[in-house]
Amino acid sequence: MANNYEKLDHWSLKAQKEGYPARSVYKLKEIDEKFTLIDRACNKTFSVLDLGAAPGSWSLYVLRKFSGMKNTFLTSADLSPLSRQYDKGLFDNDNFFFVQGDITLPDIRDKLLEKGPYNLVISDAAPATTGNRSVDTLRSLSLAEEVLLYAELGLAKGGSMALKVFQGGDTASILKHMKELFHTAKSFKPEACRSESFETYYIGIGKK
Ligand SMILES: C[S@@+](CC[C@H](N)C(=O)[O-])C[C@H]1O[C@@H](n2cnc3c(N)ncnc32)[C@H](O)[C@@H]1O
Repeated sequence: MANNYEKLDHWSLKAQKEGYPARSVYKLKEIDEKFTLIDRACNKTFSVLDLGAAPGSWSLYVLRKFSGMKNTFLTSADLSPLSRQYDKGLFDNDNFFFVQGDITLPDIRDKLLEKGPYNLVISDAAPATTGNRSVDTLRSLSLAEEVLLYAELGLAKGGSMALKVFQGGDTASILKHMKELFHTAKSFKPEACRSESFETYYIGIGKK
């Protein structure tokens, strides 16, 4: 059985080979495959919001999946700029909009909500970790609540969401909030998460 470093290498090398700037793309791929967040068969307008998007693997995954689909739009945001190493011009397309800034600030929120309503909100946003698990968990929970505000205000009826949270602390309150917002809400830990990592994802399907 591969140890953690071999596993890390496996996902990172795969990402490099497949042209993604971060291994985290495989977490979204697993989530999408399990919950069909982006339905290629759907021929309606489809709009996605990607929060905490840098260096840009999730955004690239979405844009590549959009290939050949009409009326698809992606809006992404992060404190940092996106990497242009692998996008082959996809980040210059008219169906893509990027905002660099803090997603918890009202003026950034307004800019992002203006591009909605969205059919899917994905958030891999995570606070810079301090190594102190209680502090990191508290910060992640507070960021997750901010992200839920986007689902509340910017997600269309029937829309879905995938949201990263650090486990520990009051994650139950996040799940409770999601159960109020969505017909189905559950947690899911992709295989591609490092085994020692305490992150998990909450998935909301069918905004009420
Ligand atoms: C794990 S990385 C995301 C990786 C990304 N999904 C990808 O596949 O390339 C987490 C990101 O959350 C961003 N972030 C954390 N807090 C944020 C905030 N308040 N506003 C915007 N971005 C934030 C960080 O800058 C970081 O780039």
